[in-house]
Amino acid sequence: MKTILTGIRANSVLTLGNFLGAMLPMVRLSNKYSKEGYSVNIFVPDLHSIISEVDGNLRENTIRTLKYYLAAGLEINENVHIYRQSYVPAHSELCWILNCTATMGEMNRMTQYKEKSEGKSSCNVGIFDYPVLMAADILLYSANYVPLGEDQFQHIELTRNIAERFNHKYGEVFVIPEATAEQVKFMGVEKAIRIRDLIDPEKKMSKSTAAENSKIMLDDEPAKVAKKIMGATTDSFEQIKFDFATRPGISNLLYMAALMKGISLSDFVKDWEGQSRYGDLKKAVAEVISTRLADFQARMAKISDEEVLALFEEGEKYANKIANAKLLEVQKAVGLR
Ligand code: TYM
Repeated sequence: MKTILTGIRANSVLTLGNFLGAMLPMVRLSNKYSKEGYSVNIFVPDLHSIISEVDGNLRENTIRTLKYYLAAGLEINENVHIYRQSYVPAHSELCWILNCTATMGEMNRMTQYKEKSEGKSSCNVGIFDYPVLMAADILLYSANYVPLGEDQFQHIELTRNIAERFNHKYGEVFVIPEATAEQVKFMGVEKAIRIRDLIDPEKKMSKSTAAENSKIMLDDEPAKVAKKIMGATTDSFEQIKFDFATRPGISNLLYMAALMKGISLSDFVKDWEGQSRYGDLKKAVAEVISTRLADFQARMAKISDEEVLALFEEGEKYANKIANAKLLEVQKAVGLR
């Protein structure tokens, strides 16, 4: 039986980038494959959250993050397991063991670490080390598929390298997750998803960007969404065309709307390509996104904390069982047991 696993940090209200890049794809894959016997693990990496600032209360944010999945349509059945990372201590334990396999050279090459530490006079060790914790998150459950947005893909390669090196030294303990090309194929997309910043479409949309108008947050009201989309940077070609290389702004709008509607990009693009009415396109995109978001927000409001906590507690029993068994295998291989 194959395993699909992913996590989204709960540092604040999530962005539309998290939603379209990772959450909706995971919901779609989970609803399909959990019924075919795959094991699906969705966890909130709360230990990853504290590498950077947390807006509000982490425990409450964690509950809200799971509500997002449910409101996005995640169906629960016996193959879907939901848990909080810090409730499964084996993650931290395995992280330490893997730290002794990962090398400084490969960690120094992580783009996310470079970006997150850039311009800072000092940076916490967690920011440097979190990809190893991520490897532990994945390897403990022998995950084959890890649906992610484009910015996190490098960490899959790192996980594979660490696992292969460990297996070579200590024996075949870890299942190696699929390579990135296979991951992308499994997600059913042509390329890993990268939703861009509305003001500077060369950059990814990120919750840590200060400018409010550069990102859509999942709790934005329809009028706010419309204002942000109408103000999005486009180009001066005066003709709508999907091409991230030369027209990243307009391509981002087309891409977001297609993903939000759940239709293929070519189906959405064919109605607009070649036209010059940028304002009309923006209005249509704003309409698609704000309508769907309003609907999503209404569903969120109906989900209770109790419902979420019950799912966590159930999932944590399962996760501890699987994770502890794998950890013991690792400990034996290393000679700790
Ligand atoms: P995090 O919390 O930064 O992001 C969560 C997910 O959202 C995706 N994402 C995007 N996708 C497309 N366009 C964007 N603009 C965009 N912004 C964010 C991310 O790629 C990610 O998939 N380390 C991870 C969390 C994690 C994890 C794991 C994931 C910890 N352990 C194990 C999978 C497996 C992180 O910080 O993601």
